[in-house]
Amino acid sequence: MWLNVHILTLVLAILSAVKAATFNVAISTGGHAQPDTLYGLMYEDINHVCYAQLASSSRAHIFISQSGDGGLYAELIQNRAFQQVTPGTSAALNSWAALNAASRISVVRSNVPVSAALPNALSLAVNAGTTDSVGFTNTGFWGFPVTANTRYQGSFYYRFPNPPSNQVSGNFNVDLRSTGGTVFTSTSVPFTSSAGWKKVTFTFTPSATQASANNLFAVSVTGATVSGLTVEFTLVSLFPPTFNNRPNGMRIDISQALADLKPTFFRFPGGNNLEGQTPARRWIWNNTIGDLLDRPGRQGDWSYVNTDGLGLFDYLQWIEDMGMEPIMGVWAGYTLNTQSVPENQLGPYVQEVLDQIHFAISDSSTNAQGRRRAALGHPAPFNVRYVEIGNEDWISAGGLASYNNYRWRVFASAISTTFPQLRLISTSGTSGNVPSVSGPRPIYWDLHIYENPNWFRNSAYNFDILPRNDLRFFQGEYAVTNANNGTRLSYPTVEGAITEAAYMTGFDRNSDIVFAAAYAPLLNHISSTQWTPNLISYSPNTLFKSTSYYVQQMFGVYKGDFYLTSTTNTASAPVQWSVTRNTSAGQVYLKVINTSTSAHTVVFTLPSSITTINAAGTGRILTGAAATMNTPSSPNAVVPRSFTFTAGRTITYSAVAWSASVLVVGAR
Ligand code: AHR
Repeated sequence: MWLNVHILTLVLAILSAVKAATFNVAISTGGHAQPDTLYGLMYEDINHVCYAQLASSSRAHIFISQSGDGGLYAELIQNRAFQQVTPGTSAALNSWAALNAASRISVVRSNVPVSAALPNALSLAVNAGTTDSVGFTNTGFWGFPVTANTRYQGSFYYRFPNPPSNQVSGNFNVDLRSTGGTVFTSTSVPFTSSAGWKKVTFTFTPSATQASANNLFAVSVTGATVSGLTVEFTLVSLFPPTFNNRPNGMRIDISQALADLKPTFFRFPGGNNLEGQTPARRWIWNNTIGDLLDRPGRQGDWSYVNTDGLGLFDYLQWIEDMGMEPIMGVWAGYTLNTQSVPENQLGPYVQEVLDQIHFAISDSSTNAQGRRRAALGHPAPFNVRYVEIGNEDWISAGGLASYNNYRWRVFASAISTTFPQLRLISTSGTSGNVPSVSGPRPIYWDLHIYENPNWFRNSAYNFDILPRNDLRFFQGEYAVTNANNGTRLSYPTVEGAITEAAYMTGFDRNSDIVFAAAYAPLLNHISSTQWTPNLISYSPNTLFKSTSYYVQQMFGVYKGDFYLTSTTNTASAPVQWSVTRNTSAGQVYLKVINTSTSAHTVVFTLPSSITTINAAGTGRILTGAAATMNTPSSPNAVVPRSFTFTAGRTITYSAVAWSASVLVVGAR
């Protein structure tokens, strides 16, 4: 159904030969409303390998790079509760080190676990006769920010497994320090040698900002007070201020960068993260809610554990705080080892999904899961309208067959019977082709595409050629991931971003059938990146935005509420455009995307039904050399800039090579 994109070489040749051209664009008053949900976010946190893809593609290791733990989720301590690790191994000590040789640390299975979900603890065994300061450090997620006048709030649990007969007491010192030992901020908390777990809380506020994030968190104690004793610690936590001041909340700078995209929805918790490698390792919603003591965490499928500190309630609360709506994924009986749960064994999983939805939206006065939500502080139902059943259920032949034969039917029937108001999204369609699926007819389809710039340039009309019927499409994941020669991109390039923008004009133009779209993946930690490229990159104390980020922002901020039909172009043309209107603001947005190496002119003529048009307008442009990227060493290599232009009923705009522009005209 889609345009054949294997004429890329030919198209490239044509493009490079294109001389400056002029495109005359007549704008009509007709068109269609832009859906409220059109531009949003796709999010997940996991490090995994996807077996089905290993066999068949260059996407050998499909990872998401500390998007939640170490990213959006503001917790600063890595491996804070020794979740899902094997006690006694050096791997279990990931991120932890003893302060000096006067004590030894190890991860143990505590004889008296702090909770059923958190059986492990860090054991600090202090040498007899020690007078030195002893303790341990944590490396954080590749460092710690130290920011002046910022209040960091911490806590941990401790116990003395073999307390001395004469109770001892003293102080634990907690601090942020350089790797060389310079203490930037500290405080102390009193302890007594109790055999039962005790929780301590503390705060500290650095007076100066440290440019480097190469810092440690340390807990220490004067050796003389604990000489010859062992102390266990767990759930060691440190938070900076969070977005909207939520306890257990999200990083402010990442939240703000996302908010600046003006996103309308947030798809979570995956992506492949939803699926797990086996049914036992799937994302289990009720392991992610309530007290952190009750969250066991989950074995990530490749190299890191998900703490699930960022759990279902935390997602929903933050999504609401951000003014977005959730597109909530539910597990659909398929895992990344290509295993499908047989139909006659799906019952408990279906109930789990129904409970997840009840938790999100059911009345807290009549439903037990709704009551659990209310007990966590949100009596009102969250605004969930869309539920997505599974993820990429085309990924293996067996997964596709089981989804289309029974998995969709079983889950969709049960959900729509209990929650007839929900819009259920199917995941077994690909690239505009939707298979026949048994059970309730899917109306909403999530399609994913990762490709090269030529594919995106030449696919700008893929949705135009789809039949107009009741089907609605969610471009749930898309990105330029490779250069045209196949090289994997480390960060989005100008060429990638601009060709994504050309493709996105197709979302505006076809928003009568495309109800939502999201670039993916969203986030990566620059010190732990396995999937590239990503939209936003960060370290503990920096954040930078990619070229693709600025394109997403252009389409999000200048979405408008109505698409105005205009002269169309062809997929192989060097310039694409879309025209939308913000009725209440009295503005028309002209987006012009030039995916070629030459400048081209576009002449827009506004329709006569628009009677009042300003004589001047303001615009934003993103442009640069095709291969340029924003990187940690050059984070602002390409950023948008503003300009003014002469407006009126006819607007002539010269779009420079490799550019995405929006022209904003006051017009009523
Ligand atoms: O976005 C990265 C991964 O790509 C997602 O987890 C998955 O849905 C797709 O294969």
